[in-house]
This record gives sequence, structure tokens and C-alpha cells, in this order.
Amino acid sequence: MSIDKIISLCKRRGFIFQSSEIYGGFGAVYDYGPLGTALKNNISQIWWQAMTQFHENIVGIDSGILMHPKIWEASGHVDAFNDPLVDCKQCKARYPADELFDGNPEDGKWDNIQCPKCGTTGNLTEPRQFNLMFKTHIGPVQKDANVAYLRPETAQGIYVNYLLTQNAMRLKIPFGIAQIGKAFRNEIIARNFIFRTREFEQMEMQYFVRPGDDDQSMRDWKDERMAFYSQLGIDSGKLRLQEHGPDELAHYAKEAWDIEFEFPFGWSEIEGIHNRTNFDLARHQEFSGKKMEVFDQENNEHYLPYIIETSAGLNRMLLAVLSQAYWEDNENNRIVMKFHPRIAPVTAAVCPLVKKDGLPEVGRKVMDIVKPHFKVIYDQQGSIGKRYYRQDEAGTPYGITIDHQSLEDKTVTLRHRDSQQQDRVAIDQLVSAINNSMENYT
Ligand code: GAP
Repeated sequence: MSIDKIISLCKRRGFIFQSSEIYGGFGAVYDYGPLGTALKNNISQIWWQAMTQFHENIVGIDSGILMHPKIWEASGHVDAFNDPLVDCKQCKARYPADELFDGNPEDGKWDNIQCPKCGTTGNLTEPRQFNLMFKTHIGPVQKDANVAYLRPETAQGIYVNYLLTQNAMRLKIPFGIAQIGKAFRNEIIARNFIFRTREFEQMEMQYFVRPGDDDQSMRDWKDERMAFYSQLGIDSGKLRLQEHGPDELAHYAKEAWDIEFEFPFGWSEIEGIHNRTNFDLARHQEFSGKKMEVFDQENNEHYLPYIIETSAGLNRMLLAVLSQAYWEDNENNRIVMKFHPRIAPVTAAVCPLVKKDGLPEVGRKVMDIVKPHFKVIYDQQGSIGKRYYRQDEAGTPYGITIDHQSLEDKTVTLRHRDSQQQDRVAIDQLVSAINNSMENYT
């Protein structure tokens, strides 16, 4: 299945739009429409709950996107957060160096490499390091002293607040701090729809452990994070863990694993799990001059904890959910987004069979009963078949239809999106029937 089908459905049904479309678009930035926003919020809520509700020792924070510029010097991002890039002097195309050359770019073989765009040889420049952080200036004067960066990861906001958070919440090692928020990277080659963009959202959790407990904690988090995806309806056969080789490790990591999903364009990373040791805390201690150690009362000692990080991209998780859900039901000539009902943007559509005979009035009463429990919409436009198919494409798992029998016995039909099966349900039993079906959804 091609990603283009998903892109087109996303636009048609109001999941995701290209940014600034009326101006011809704005590269590698996307806007989320009503269904995309609802789906994204549902996914992030499940992640937030998995971290901060199911773990008594994990709390959430929300730090600023702009932070003291020294943070990015201490973290190593000013010096080391680079992509080596190569330009073609002939046609001006630009490539990440590793895309054209899988050996060591230092060994000067660039003269023999052909530009994939114009086909000439000998026109590629030596790789140049390009920093991925977006720079801006605080205040009216643009000088070096006023430089600030849009954060390229949310993690640093956690590190610089970790002692304040620990004290405020009286946390003991091991404990975790979770955060969801925007991150920005000046990606040169952005591609694959919302997979690699310049503005995106991360869901990161930093777990602070005693040095020496880090390897076990890493193993535990790898298992837990892999298991998480079933809550989003993602098939475990489409997920795999891949370890980073020594030359792929980020500047802060002792060990790193990617959770990869089989996207329509191939296996690619959705989440990273990293053992960051005490690298970041030691650097902040050095650069700020402030002690970053915890006091471990039980063992009566001060130390810099090690950090296991789970770092997921919300937009990539959403793209994985969209890819998993897309189903061409050729037998019934319809496209269905088979979202797990727990995360579907709309849970049910209430549809009076006709716009007369008192059916809309019953429909409105049903809306009032169901609305406090689920996101429901009211739809009386067009034939009932068209209405069902419209909702199938939007991924709405239930259709509630009011017909003439409803006037007589106060029942409605409950239609199930995937099987198209319909059950007759008493109006006052609708909420529990939907809850039941959601719990048993496979
Ligand atoms: N704090 C560690 C960190 O940021 P990363 O592997 O660079 O690690 C973590 O990023 C996750 O953030 C990735 O697994 C991916 O889901 C998401 N991500 C990174 N760059 C992205 C981009 N340009 N567009 C969309 N998501 C991105």
C-alpha cells in the first residue's frame, strides 16, 4: 500500500493538511484538522496515562520551548547535533552525506560519486557539518549574546528541572519525569509525510536510577515500551527492536535501541530508548556550577543518577496508527480506517433513518444520552449507506441508527464498523453496549 493513499485520505477527511496550503505550502510542516487533532490527542493521552497514572513514581511536567542557551552548549547540541551535508555544484541539489556514501566520507572519494539528480560526476562538495537547531534572538537586537534555540528535544527541560521536581514531589530513586511537547529540527531532507518534519511533538520520559541499575532498567523499559503499542491497536508483527551500532550512537548514549514500525515505505523508527548515563547531568553541573546530585537517604550518599530515556515521536506514532488502520475492503467497495475504538477520533455517529416522522427528535435525545460518555456526532445528510461509508472512512467504530421501530419500542440499531453487523439495543442500554464492545474489540 502506498503512503499517497493515506496522505490523500488525511486531506479529504480532515486528519492532516499541508501547512500554508493557500501559499503553495510550507516545507516539512503539517497542520492537523479536526479528526487528526482528536486522534493525536487520544494517542498522547494513552501515553500520558501509561506513564504518569500506571506508574506511581513517574510524574509529568511541561517546560518551555525556549530555554537558557547554555543548556544546549552543556547538552552537546551546539557542537554535536549536526548532519553532514553534500551539495552538487552543478545542479545545487543537497544530500545528507550518508545517503550517497556508506564508507568514510573523510577518505576523499567524493570526486567519483555521481549526483543522483543531474547525473554529473565530480561536482559534489566535501561534506559540511550543518547544525539542526533553529536559532532565534530574544529581544529587539539580533546579537550573539541574545541567541536562543527552539528546543530540538524535550529531554533537557526535564534534566534542568529534575531536582526541583524531585523535592516538590518527594520522589526517591528510581523515579521518572514525563513530558509531551513540541520539538524543532531544521531537517534538510524532510520526507515521508509527517514522518520527518521540522516541527513535531515528542513524548519523552526520563527515568532516574542508581548507577549500576541502569542495564536492568534499560531491559525493563524496552519490554514495557514494546508492549505499549498493543493499546493503540498496533500489531506486534509490525514492530521490531533494533540496536544502534557503536558508530550510530548519539553523543550522549552508552546504549540505544529503536522501536521500528513497518511503514508503507519500510521499517523506520518511531521511538528511541537510550541509556544516557549521567552525561547530561554531569554536563549541566559543569556548565551551571550548580550541584546536580541526588541525596540517597537510604544509603546516605550523594550521586549523579543514570538516566534511561524513552523518547517517542507523537506524529510518527500517529502515522503508524494511520498506516495500520488503513483497510481497503474491496468486497464491500469501501475504505475503512480500522482504529481501535479507544483512540478513534469519533466513537459513534447518530443517524436518524429519515429526516421526518419524529426520528430526528429521537436522534437528539440519543445524542444527549451518549454525549457525556463518548465523542459522538449527529448525521442526517444523505442516504444511510453513504453516511455509514463516510464514517467508515473517518474510522468511527459505531453507527447508531434511529428507525420507525425506535418510536415503538425505544430501541436503535448499533452498527459495528469492521463487520457491518447490526444489533438491536435498547436506548437506555446504549452506553453499556458501546463500552462492552470497546472492551472486547480485537
Ligand atoms: N531525546 C532523545 C531524542 O530526541 P531522537 O532519536 O533524536 O532522540 C526521538 O528522537 C524521537 O523523536 C524519534 O524516535 C522520532 O519518533 C521523533 N523525531 C525525531 N526527529 C523527528 C522529526 N524530524 N520529525 C518527526 N519526528 C521526529
